[in-house]
Amino acid sequence: MLCSRLSKRLDFYGLSSFTQYYDLIHSLEYQQEFQIMIDLVTTNETYFFREPKHFTFLKEHILKNWLGDTFNIWSAACSTGEETYSLAMVLAETLGYRKWEIFGSDISSRVLETAKTAVYLMDRLENMDNSLMEKYCLRGVRSQSGYFCMDSGLKKRIQFEQINLVKPLPIHLNRNFDVIFLRNVLIYFDQATKKSVVERVIATLKPGGYFIISHSENLHQINTNLLMVKPSIYQKKSAHTTQSSK
Ligand SMILES: C[S@@+](CC[C@H](N)C(=O)[O-])C[C@H]1O[C@@H](n2cnc3c(N)ncnc32)[C@H](O)[C@@H]1O
Repeated sequence: MLCSRLSKRLDFYGLSSFTQYYDLIHSLEYQQEFQIMIDLVTTNETYFFREPKHFTFLKEHILKNWLGDTFNIWSAACSTGEETYSLAMVLAETLGYRKWEIFGSDISSRVLETAKTAVYLMDRLENMDNSLMEKYCLRGVRSQSGYFCMDSGLKKRIQFEQINLVKPLPIHLNRNFDVIFLRNVLIYFDQATKKSVVERVIATLKPGGYFIISHSENLHQINTNLLMVKPSIYQKKSAHTTQSSK
């Protein structure tokens, strides 16, 4: 996979080995090539309302009883933004005019550009409920036909930023998230990296907050102060978190 994704860059520079390419991306002269390499090697598959049970849980268990001031969600590894806007639609429908904010991050600058622009092909609407589509997706006409864009009211509530989860998190990052979605990215890390990423990320979750990974991932052999509420859904322990909160 790496060979096929990167070989065109070797051709571009007229290089004859991956070692030469490795040296090039670490040289000061070609600093921008490092990001191009990241954008090429990351797998960015995503879609609206992927793993719908997580969105149902958010609506029916987390938001239903929520009484705080501003509800904060982090979509870490958000790819092109479909996960982020799915969350935004759920929050808009459930919390309405109450205060809520979403933070989306990814290591790839290319996918973040799409997430910020929020213009998608019409066939991305496959899993979306008709009423949400009518309310939050603006169909393009003429040169934009075949595309839709997300409602500007939703876009205003979302901030995107490039973050590499393997490195220390930026100091300005909110440390009080109510919910963190970290789905379909842990699979790409070895056990030690996965452990450090999970620890780093849940340090920004408030006690009692929820941490959601993909159904195809697990936290085996990662000792955290999390309680499993359902498969793939965890709650950070707090003085009030008991087994009955399941
Ligand atoms: C398969 S997508 C998952 C998107 C979305 N969370 C979902 O479940 O549909 C994985 C994303 O993780 C990002 N990623 C990979 N390594 C990362 C890292 N070290 N830090 C932040 N994001 C990373 C990739 O760029 C990619 O967009």
